[in-house]
Amino acid sequence: MNISHKLRSLLQNTESICVLTGAGISAESGVETFRGSNGLWSKLKPEELANFDAFMRNPELVWEWYNYRKEIIHHVKPNPAHFALARLQEMVKDFTLVTQNVDNLHRRAGSTNVLELHGNIERSYCIGCGKFVANVEVSLENKVPHCQSCNGIIRPDIVWFGEMLPEGVFEAATEAADRCELFLTIGTSAVVYPAANLPITARKHGAYVVEINLERTEISHTVHETLLGKAGEILPQLLKIKEE
Ligand code: APR
Repeated sequence: MNISHKLRSLLQNTESICVLTGAGISAESGVETFRGSNGLWSKLKPEELANFDAFMRNPELVWEWYNYRKEIIHHVKPNPAHFALARLQEMVKDFTLVTQNVDNLHRRAGSTNVLELHGNIERSYCIGCGKFVANVEVSLENKVPHCQSCNGIIRPDIVWFGEMLPEGVFEAATEAADRCELFLTIGTSAVVYPAANLPITARKHGAYVVEINLERTEISHTVHETLLGKAGEILPQLLKIKEE
């Protein structure tokens, strides 16, 4: 893997890194990505599963799907890319990890400074009173969980298409992108906004922007350096440079 002198020296010296991750970083753990020929959205309709109106029309179907995703996620483990980022966080003074993933694998790998732009599949809340509920059990008898306080319908804490991001999270991500010296965008097709704005914001504020992805993406022409390949193979190499 050809890594530039600029990236090598930044990895070894910078005190401020911001990272954006997408579904591609969890692919090697066995979590399907969304786009591309074999992506989830080539098999399922996001308009039937990942928006509020669809949920209100058929909460059973949506819960069945999230329960299926949760089952998969509970049976996989973080991979070397997740662990490399958790280790980098320990070694860099100002390190912010912004993720579009809801799979909780960054936290399971030990990352703590994680901004979850699209929510987390392990959390749910009541659409009536807003109460958060952990570990909601969905079963054949109980296909749509209800709130024990107000009997409102409980929904997964996932940001669906057309919905606002969690309050303050994107603002914090933008601040981190503004101030970082090195910005890494990893395993994302960079077609979903406002997340895809972050690498551009970082570049505008003088950061060196590096893309790590299996294939070129919508933002490959705007970044300083693109490393094509698997995140689980490239991130450990970058960590090794930092540890030198
Ligand atoms: N290593 C690096 N990159 C990979 C790997 C890998 N092992 N496997 C796949 N990729 C790349 C693909 O080439 C693709 O460009 O990861 C990218 C995944 O893109 P998407 O499937 O579009 O996922 P993402 O960008 O995270 O989607 C953004 O869209 O569906 C919504 O809310 C959902 O958060 C998601 C958002």
